[in-house]
Amino acid sequence: MRIKGFKLEEYFAKYEFNVEYSLCSSDCESFSVDELLTLEKTSLEDLKKVWLGYTESLGNPILREEISKLYSKINAEEVIVFSGAEEAIFIFMNVLLNKGDHIIVQYPAYQSLYEIANAIGCKVTKWVMDDENQWALSLQFLETNITPSTKCIVVNFPHNPTGYLPKRDIYNRIINLAKENDIYLLSDEVYKFLEYTEAERLPSACDLIDKGVSIGVMSKAFGLAGLRIGWIATKHTSLFKEIASFKNYTTICNSALSEFFAILALRKRNRILNRNLEIIMNNLNLLDDFFNRHNNIFSWIRPNAGSVAFPRLLVNDSVQAFCLDLLKKKSVLLMPSTNYDYGDRHFRIGFGRKNMPEALQHFDNYITENYG
Ligand SMILES: Cc1ncc(COP(=O)(O)O)c(C=O)c1O
Repeated sequence: MRIKGFKLEEYFAKYEFNVEYSLCSSDCESFSVDELLTLEKTSLEDLKKVWLGYTESLGNPILREEISKLYSKINAEEVIVFSGAEEAIFIFMNVLLNKGDHIIVQYPAYQSLYEIANAIGCKVTKWVMDDENQWALSLQFLETNITPSTKCIVVNFPHNPTGYLPKRDIYNRIINLAKENDIYLLSDEVYKFLEYTEAERLPSACDLIDKGVSIGVMSKAFGLAGLRIGWIATKHTSLFKEIASFKNYTTICNSALSEFFAILALRKRNRILNRNLEIIMNNLNLLDDFFNRHNNIFSWIRPNAGSVAFPRLLVNDSVQAFCLDLLKKKSVLLMPSTNYDYGDRHFRIGFGRKNMPEALQHFDNYITENYG
């Protein structure tokens, strides 16, 4: 397979570990091993006993059980664990799609959600979101673009990079369109549990339709990206089997240590999620104030879920040049929309980290010094 470079990941690889402040990360504040071990009394002793041989290919059964509790109708046998959400997306696309298949992808998007399909030779229709419509998805667009060769609709709620989360009626209509047309729905739910009120949380696609495939991960809401633990949950048995079979050609099985920590974190998930949501809500208030004070420079659509937003830059010809200048002068990293192939006007800002207020202060100083 020939595949284009992953712009966003290449940008992170170049800058993320060389800057003082990453103000565009999408994951929540992480934990040290020590912090995780304090969550449960016996955990250090349990850790010492972890066996470092090969692990079960579908994932540790206890981990699969813990993951299944995040859903309402999924049982442990309907969960398969991967090395991050990225492996899950890669395998799903390779198993499901053939050259010439048509897929419809919510856009802008995390690049693997459409690029793997492009590399396979699929026809990809971008279901484009626009800030002039408050990022709302057009159902009419979806209805008119479904054809007999449409195999899959790809959505990501809460959305990276806009923070958009549809209302229940819109989501239900998407689910029903997939069902009525017998189309797979790949639902990238890696930012699930970062809804600002629990009432807004959407049911997972795998709980609603047989062809619903939900992807989850420890990286974002749980802040444990370094574990590289993600998963697929689906009730579709034949697809599940094919996905499991493909995994023998990628990672075979998961890291025993990562599985241990993922189990621990999922058991204590309420504490972890509450901490991370508190960080997000505090940071979001600061962002409201920042964008309110600088509303001649940015247009700000407050996200309704998640840890990222996608403001528009109203000055300067190029957001890419703006981000590079900020990086050079203040060592603050923002993600220009060029890395999403979505023009040169928006940037992703992340607010799941504890040091966000400090990073924002440096960004604020830059604005005052250059545009004040
Ligand atoms: C929407 C979306 N899906 C999947 C991933 C990949 O997650 P992971 O790095 O945990 O594999 C990301 C990471 O940024 C993402 O934003």
